[in-house]
Amino acid sequence: MPPTPRPLTLIVATTPIPTPITTPTSTTESSSSSSSSSTPIRLGIGHSGTLPWPRIKTDMSFFARVTSRPPVPGTTNAIIMGRKTYDSVPAPLRPLAKRISTIITRDVEGLKPRVAREVEGRKAKLAASASAAASTSGGNGNAAQQQPATDAIVCGGLDEALQELETRYGDEGKLGKVFVIGGAEIYGAVLGAAKGGPGPVRIVMTNVEKKGYAEGDRGEVFECDTFFPVDEELFGEKEGWRRVTPEEVTEWVGEEVTGRWIEEGDVRVQMVGYERQ
Ligand SMILES: NC(=O)c1ccc[n+]([C@@H]2O[C@H](COP(=O)([O-])OP(=O)(O)OC[C@H]3O[C@@H](n4cnc5c(N)ncnc54)[C@H](OP(=O)(O)O)[C@@H]3O)[C@@H](O)[C@H]2O)c1
Repeated sequence: MPPTPRPLTLIVATTPIPTPITTPTSTTESSSSSSSSSTPIRLGIGHSGTLPWPRIKTDMSFFARVTSRPPVPGTTNAIIMGRKTYDSVPAPLRPLAKRISTIITRDVEGLKPRVAREVEGRKAKLAASASAAASTSGGNGNAAQQQPATDAIVCGGLDEALQELETRYGDEGKLGKVFVIGGAEIYGAVLGAAKGGPGPVRIVMTNVEKKGYAEGDRGEVFECDTFFPVDEELFGEKEGWRRVTPEEVTEWVGEEVTGRWIEEGDVRVQMVGYERQ
């Protein structure tokens, strides 16, 4: 029997952006033209190469915990991203610790040397702080060996990325979960490729709203120029998506998710999950 494919989990934070559209309609009775309008909700994810909202600690720490926590000791999770999302991570934090950053670009050979330098620099800093911590706490080397690795690979596309991860880490039993962390181009590639594909696609989504929006004033939105490729309505049954229960999200991410809104400053966030078989 072939092995069960590793589920791909998209992790994303989105904010609702009502986007009025007006479509011309003609009325046969009067043969005059009129127009009808509707306001679909698009899901904003980015603005000017970064996130649309100021730092939201609740979501950033959720993202860090979920993506770096391995399913079993001795394995490391992978985070697949587009080159622009990789570059949106502040330079001193690149590549993100305790994960295998898997960067997709059309310029693989051009990007590899820079990423290799950033991996070496980051590993050296992490090793220095780990040894400083071990010498003050008298920690042991075995525990350090069970820690997830910090690494990065550069690939020319999604299929190559998945194949490379299996070859380099999966075949040795060292690959944990595989997360797709954006941006819009890469989410689009995954959702397009996965339609009718071999395995389920999961989405762990943080809904982000300004409190004004939540209170009914839909003018209170963040400015966005980059959008998730599926809008709010498509999460209905017709595209095959199912909103999963908080218990299922809890099981996917390895920590309790209640689905309740959490307030932080001027915003509120809520973690939810969707699945398409
Ligand atoms: N809210 C969230 O959860 C979230 C998550 C992630 C990102 N974001 C935001 O989203 C924005 C970035 O998204 P984005 O869509 O502009 O960029 P992106 O998806 O991060 O990266 C796009 C880049 O990926 C590479 N690429 C895309 N398709 C490819 C293909 N088929 N084959 C090979 N390489 C391919 C290209 O890199 P090259 O140009 O190097 O060829 C392309 O320029 C930022 O504002 C970021 O902050 C938000």
